[in-house]
Formats: sequence, structure tokens, C-alpha cells
Amino acid sequence: MKTKQLSNARRSLASLSDVTKAELEAWFDLALRLKGETKAGKPQNILAGKNLAMIFQKSSTRTRVSFEIAMRQLGGGALYLSGNELQLGRGETIADTARVLSRYVDGIMARVFAHSDIVTLAKYATVPVINGLSDFSHPCQAVADYLTVLEHKGRLTGLTLAYVGDGNNVAHSLLFGGAKLGVNVTIVCPKGYEPQKAVVDRAESDGRQSGARIIVSDDPAAVKGADVIYTDVWASMGQEAEHAERVRIFKPYQVNARLMAMTGKKDALFMHCLPAHRGEEVTDEVVDSPNSVVLDEAENRLHAQKAILVSLMA
Ligand code: CP
Ligand code: NVA
Repeated sequence: MKTKQLSNARRSLASLSDVTKAELEAWFDLALRLKGETKAGKPQNILAGKNLAMIFQKSSTRTRVSFEIAMRQLGGGALYLSGNELQLGRGETIADTARVLSRYVDGIMARVFAHSDIVTLAKYATVPVINGLSDFSHPCQAVADYLTVLEHKGRLTGLTLAYVGDGNNVAHSLLFGGAKLGVNVTIVCPKGYEPQKAVVDRAESDGRQSGARIIVSDDPAAVKGADVIYTDVWASMGQEAEHAERVRIFKPYQVNARLMAMTGKKDALFMHCLPAHRGEEVTDEVVDSPNSVVLDEAENRLHAQKAILVSLMA
């Protein structure tokens, strides 16, 4: 298979900050090819005999199912491991878990609270580690999202994605990815809920190379001219105690028909990583509108992750 491989020095995916534009584009090419083959019912045995361990410290629908189905469709296997049921939940270290799992499986995907757990897993595992969401980033989501934009708009460079809401893990990955790909990224969020400064600084620096313009604003009017409006839940997993306060603070940032119209573009896409809290960050009329591509994004998790799995594990 003709695929640009990630360098052997870095065979894990912790964050899109570590991935080049060429690697992202190679993943898009491969994902689209595998998607076509999947739709045509062509068998894909690229990862025959390979197994992926999937550690989940948090809930998941899309990540769990798409990774498991991706491995099956590629001819391999996947193992769901709940953080609580592993000895990890009783104090075995991340490092020992990484070392031991590496003796059984060919790759580890993990959804964790602390991003440092992904970094530790990647440090001690001798097999590739893939971040399936941490408090810092959600790289597989952003790869699937930009693949979705590419399919709908036919290009990425020069487009503008406006992310409206909490400057969270998903916002971070969209910033890292957009900055590499030449997609202008505008983050619209209440004061105090901005993405981390180091992430914005890195995106600005990558944007100077790619031509992407990075803006952070607390004014919803900053969505003017956007080709894509993206939002995510106001309280992420682990922030449940802040939910009521966040609903009050984020209310002016709800993505509704009025905000979509503020783009000035009738064909602006609506995106959301899901799960959505309908009536909070997005209204039914927007998430169910013809401009909404949320189900394409969810489907593309499968195809994008197949490309990532093949490039890391084949
Ligand atoms: N978007 C996403 O990662 O969904 P899950 O939490 O269902 O995996
Ligand atoms: N920001 C959300 C994304 C869920 C896929 C969370 O971390 O809960």
C-alpha cells in the first residue's frame, strides 16, 4: 500500500501538534480510498492478525465503535478495556500497563482524563499509542472533521472554520490541524474559556507557514464569513459539576439559526463532534438542518481512523 508512513521515531499519535501537513494529507488520501473500498464491499486485510487494545477511562459511543469496527474491517481485532476493570483502577502504574499490553497487542488506543497519561503510555509502550481523547486534545476527531470538510467543500486551504463554545480538547485539535492545513480558525468563546495560550501560540506559528489566520474572540459576530461553524458541549466529561454555571455563561454562544445567519453564507456547514446537548450549545433546527454534516463527521471517524491505524500499525 502506497502510504506516507509516520517516521519510525514517532509512531504514536498523542496530539496533532506532532503531525505534519504531508502526513495529514496522506491520511485523507488513504481514508478516502479505504472509504470507497468499504462502500464497494472490498475486503481489507491490511491489519490481518493485528490487535488493538482500547483503554477507556470515560464513556464513548463513536470512538469505541469506530475503532472496533475499523480493526475488524481491516482484518484485525480490538479489545475493549474499561479503566475501572483493569488493574490500572487499583493502582497499577500507567508505565507497567503500557509495558505489559505491548507484549500482547500491536497498538493501544486510550481515552483518558489527564493528557499526561497518554504521554506516559506512549513513552513506555513499545507499540503505537493513539489518543482517543484526553483533557487536552482529540486528534482523531479533528482528522475526521477536516476530512469531512474536504469532502463537502472540495478543498481546505483558505477556508474559515469558526469554533463557537468552550476552548476545550476538541478546539485544541481543530486549531493544531487547521493551522497546519491552511484553514483559518476563529475561536469564539466567553472570556476565561479560551483555548490554552500555548496551543494558540503554536497554531499562530504553524499558521504563518501555511497561511492560516488564527483568531480568538469573545464576540459571536466574529463568525462573519465562516465556511464552517463548529461547536461542542459546554461542559466536557469530568466537568459535570460546572454544568449549571457553564450553561449560564455560554448562553450567548449558542449555535442557532441566528448565529448561522451571521456567517453571511447560506452554504456554511454546521459541525459537532457529538454527543450534542440539544437546546444548549446547539438548537435542533441547526443540528437537523441540511447544512449539518454531523453524521458524516461521525461516519468519517471510521474511515479516518482506519488510515491512522494502517499508517501506525501495518
Ligand atoms: N466524538 C466522540 O469522540 O464521541 P464519543 O464520546 O461517543 O466517542
Ligand atoms: N469535549 C468533549 C468531547 C466529547 C467527544 C468532552 O471531552 O467530553
